[in-house]
Amino acid sequence: MKILLLGGTGLIGTALARKLCQKGHTCSIPSRQSLLSKKATQGIRYIEFSFDSIPKLLSNHDIVINLIGENIMGLNLTKKKKQRLVSSRVSIAEHISSCLRKMKQPTKLWINASAIGFYDEYSRDVVDENSAAGTGFMSALCKAWEQPLQETDESPAKARLTRKVRLRIALVLSQEAGIFPKFVAAYKLGLGSLLGDGLQGFSWIHIDDLVAAILFIIETEAISGAVNLSSPQPLEQRVFSKTLAKLLNRPHILRIPNFLPRLLLGEMSSLLLQGVYVIPRKLTKHGFQYAYPRLIPALQNLLARRSLSKLSKAPIS
Ligand SMILES: NC(=O)c1ccc[n+]([C@@H]2O[C@H](COP(=O)([O-])OP(=O)(O)OC[C@H]3O[C@@H](n4cnc5c(N)ncnc54)[C@H](OP(=O)(O)O)[C@@H]3O)[C@@H](O)[C@H]2O)c1
Repeated sequence: MKILLLGGTGLIGTALARKLCQKGHTCSIPSRQSLLSKKATQGIRYIEFSFDSIPKLLSNHDIVINLIGENIMGLNLTKKKKQRLVSSRVSIAEHISSCLRKMKQPTKLWINASAIGFYDEYSRDVVDENSAAGTGFMSALCKAWEQPLQETDESPAKARLTRKVRLRIALVLSQEAGIFPKFVAAYKLGLGSLLGDGLQGFSWIHIDDLVAAILFIIETEAISGAVNLSSPQPLEQRVFSKTLAKLLNRPHILRIPNFLPRLLLGEMSSLLLQGVYVIPRKLTKHGFQYAYPRLIPALQNLLARRSLSKLSKAPIS
């Protein structure tokens, strides 16, 4: 199928595009980056990003997957930066929604990113897709982000033409980018530690499972609405922390001041200091099989990949 992959140059999009192409799909990836640095590969075409081009692109593709969002890491949450986090996500989702409503034959499937930040960040209960939204900034952001996929001002018949899926994504663990390499760097310096009291939820997903779950959603027509993309075993943050320190053979200190993760991770740190216990009820119900449902094999795999990629970059003497 022909897939329009917005946000396809990021951590998730890059891995997803690779897999989609392996499965015989083709991807068009709009980007704001210089296209000179983005060489087309088998099945992937990079194009210049612009809002104006979206209607035509939608009409030329079977599926739209939108992962666009300004990176949350390292940002101190000034009012202006909060606005950028929200507007980079909401404006494109609203635009897609408005374009689809104007099309005679709307795109069959629209998959849009959201995050587990949707749920009440202070909750220590297990949450699933039916749980209520929280009240903090991240919840408000996710609600606004998901809203364009829930608009009801179209006729029910037309609304049914596009299957819409909102991906509530947990912390993605990948050896290539995102939060995991930062964790490894900090733990190697001996800074592995409880964050807060360590009893808050740590909901995570291995990058391979995240990508496989998106392919599963494409193939499973019965899935629509909100879908949690997280491993089936959310943990206490202290369990994650002790496990990673042990696998890296490094000390685990009892507590570091909260300002340190804030310095390192910016707003992302609030997701770690006040995490939730998310379970992927919908994926499980539809029979999705995880390659890495448990933390230790997931971390071992990612650490082995990191070592391999370092070896392959080392000069041959
Ligand atoms: N990684 C995680 O742990 C995680 C967890 C929960 C939710 N999510 C969400 O999932 C989505 C993808 O995550 P990711 O980790 O792959 O993000 P990422 O690596 O930061 O990539 C973000 C993508 O969005 C595009 N982008 C950013 N700001 C834009 C703007 N103002 N206008 C147009 N394009 C813009 C970038 O494209 P160009 O720079 O090429 O234009 C890039 O392709 C994000 O929305 C993120 O919030 C991620």
